[in-house]
Amino acid sequence: MPSLISVNGNITPADRAVIPVLDHGFLFGDSVYETLRTYRHKPFLFTRHFVRMQRSARSVELTLPWDREKLFAEVQRVVAAAALSSESRIRITITRGVGEVGPDPGTCGLPNVIIIVTPLAELPETVYERGVDVVISALRRTSHLADAKTGNLIRTVLAQREARVAGAFEAVLLTPEGWISDGITSNVYVVKGRKILTPSREACSLEGITRGIVLELARRLELDVVEGLFHPGEIEQADEMFLTSTTREVVPIVRVDGRVIGSGKPGPVTALLRKAYVRELRLLIQED
Ligand code: PDD
Repeated sequence: MPSLISVNGNITPADRAVIPVLDHGFLFGDSVYETLRTYRHKPFLFTRHFVRMQRSARSVELTLPWDREKLFAEVQRVVAAAALSSESRIRITITRGVGEVGPDPGTCGLPNVIIIVTPLAELPETVYERGVDVVISALRRTSHLADAKTGNLIRTVLAQREARVAGAFEAVLLTPEGWISDGITSNVYVVKGRKILTPSREACSLEGITRGIVLELARRLELDVVEGLFHPGEIEQADEMFLTSTTREVVPIVRVDGRVIGSGKPGPVTALLRKAYVRELRLLIQED
């Protein structure tokens, strides 16, 4: 895979990029990260991702070593150097840096800035036409730092494994109290008529950047958006369901734990929002 990685501004092929093993990002998952994508080979909504990364960093008391301009310039430099024929997936990770073997972040030196650019595997059109299966995960999304994108991702790893074993596209996690939270790496929505139910931050769900755009479009389309705490029982009465994320956009969900949602086909509200999202992309591509 023709991937390139920048470590503190030093760009190498992926298999030659290194960071010290005493970096607390490696030892403790002590890091923050963002996943972006390109459209027309340009990083999409960089500023929004940077702002969320600042928020994540603040919540774990990590000082970002680079400002927006410096990080954006380096992201652009890696994307240009990779010169991929496909669009790129961009993973920015900022670690706590090298410290003692114990977890005290006070022992760490400077954070390491890692930018990984790989080809983006776009979903085939059939996925959007047919919709996907998801499962409800046995794992719970806990409230602590739920809205910060940190390197502590063992639940994500285990939930992903669960989804793969079940042959599902994605898994939906619940909170410890049993409310619907979000997907492994996506936000989820239940549609009833023209009403869209989506978990709020109280449900330990991440404020997805795609979610923000889709909810704004939904309101513009005069759909009724309800953010809150929802029981999985709502899924049984759903007409439609869908998920959103940066890399997958708006994906219809047609089965949950093997149970058919609505007609078993992508529904009209999901189709409307997907169409509006694709149209909106053309405008948003101008941002940054
Ligand atoms: N994840 N919820 C969770 C838990 C996520 O990890 C993500 C994104 C989302 C969707 O957010 P956005 O629309 O900003 O991509 C929701 C990225 C893709 C990742 O983990 O790599």
